[in-house]
Amino acid sequence: MGTVPICAGVILRSGMVLLCRRAPGRTRAGLWEFPGGRVEEGETPAEALRRELREELGIEAVIGAQAGRVRHLYDDGEIELIALLVTAFTGELTLKDHDQARWVESRRLLEFDLAPADVPIAKALASHRRRGRYAGTHPRRFGEKYKEHAADPEAVAKAKSRGSTPAGTHLPVMLAETLAALSPLAGADVLDCTLGWGGHAAEIARLGGRVVGLDRDAEELARAVKRLAEAGLVVTARHFDYADALAAAAGLGLRGFDALLADLGVSSMQLDRPERGMSFKNDGPLDMRMDRSRGKTAADWLACATQPRIAEALRDYGDEPDAEKIAAALAGLARQGRVPRTTFELVAAVGSAKGLGPGPFRKKDAFAAHPAARVFQALRIAVNSELDSLKALLAGLPALMRPRGRVALITFHSGEERLVKDALDAQAAAGVWAAPPGPPARPAPEEVRENPRARSARLWSAVRAFYRGARDSFAA
Ligand SMILES: C[S@@+](CC[C@H](N)C(=O)[O-])C[C@H]1O[C@@H](n2cnc3c(N)ncnc32)[C@H](O)[C@@H]1O
Repeated sequence: MGTVPICAGVILRSGMVLLCRRAPGRTRAGLWEFPGGRVEEGETPAEALRRELREELGIEAVIGAQAGRVRHLYDDGEIELIALLVTAFTGELTLKDHDQARWVESRRLLEFDLAPADVPIAKALASHRRRGRYAGTHPRRFGEKYKEHAADPEAVAKAKSRGSTPAGTHLPVMLAETLAALSPLAGADVLDCTLGWGGHAAEIARLGGRVVGLDRDAEELARAVKRLAEAGLVVTARHFDYADALAAAAGLGLRGFDALLADLGVSSMQLDRPERGMSFKNDGPLDMRMDRSRGKTAADWLACATQPRIAEALRDYGDEPDAEKIAAALAGLARQGRVPRTTFELVAAVGSAKGLGPGPFRKKDAFAAHPAARVFQALRIAVNSELDSLKALLAGLPALMRPRGRVALITFHSGEERLVKDALDAQAAAGVWAAPPGPPARPAPEEVRENPRARSARLWSAVRAFYRGARDSFAA
């Protein structure tokens, strides 16, 4: 008999790792291990692990990088253990093949009576030392920051305890709920209007969906295409604003979709790249455009906008309570030719308009928002005309969806919520949707703990009616 491939999940939560004890009656009963199981013929280790964790522990796992690979010769044959990081999961842990589970600090893993094949993996995790600190408060190079991605449980746990999403982390929001809303996916033509990192699209493709992915950000789109291809996943990617989704579909010769996803707003990668100028956390040029090949940067937008227009944007797109004061300050700076040109200049201008002293802002508690957070959100929405694109997408939904087609829309703030709710309600009244869409779903507390950026996500779903209004599918 040859070497048997076995997958194992190094499941991370708040800097701890999950160990499970093999139940009585199994080989190596009583020993602790990273849960997993056999990789079946035709499965990749990641696919096998996802299946095993679903069957064994009742969870939907997001699989990350490889944590280690070892061969071990047991009395009953040789195995190759392929350990993969599990960076997030949804669902309640339930034990089937194990009688105990424990969350363990990585440095204490070796204190457990481990199955011999799991020992080298545990050793590597236990001896993992945080990389040396970069000078100053922020890494200088973006690459340094991205090293934190799932590689350093300690750094990840620390960021989460501050109520932040660790730098470089990309976790698809409300993944399990979104997949459920869009199912069945096998053989379905699926439009992912916001491909982003490709997190949702990858899972949809793995479940057999034929994905067309759009993104207006050509730079991130190219990275997503590369990443998906490296994972062996087929996704047809196009550089498009989703406002033009019908044109994108027509260009591909497609007449409607069985499922459509729009995960609105900005991605973690865009926020974390200082040169995009989208985050108050990183100093960079005040750009904020998702599509850097066109349109005004945020600095230019501020230089041209009137004070009432700035105030309106801050109020409507950011629910900013100090909209008038901040607009007055920003318009004043523009008149003096001193419009903020960098993200930190904008942070300073907002701080001074709010009467906060100079120097770094200290949060009152882990979940307190940064005083410039609403201003950054509002400006980004204005610069990218995000709500106009959303309106156009919503208006196109009846024509984009085939009869019984499933729609999942993930919103992140009240402006998006209002537009989505009003459009879906009006279309339901006109017979477009099989049933009136209910209130949106919220992320589970478990997900918010793992990925604080998910906290304001709301998932809206609807199913296209079969007869009424379905006649005009693709009328455009
Ligand atoms: C929240 S991210 C999507 C993340 C993705 N679901 C994943 O799991 O990786 C949103 C993405 O939508 C893109 N986007 C935002 N507005 C868009 C628009 N009007 N048209 C096309 N793409 C847009 C952004 O550039 C960003 O990459």
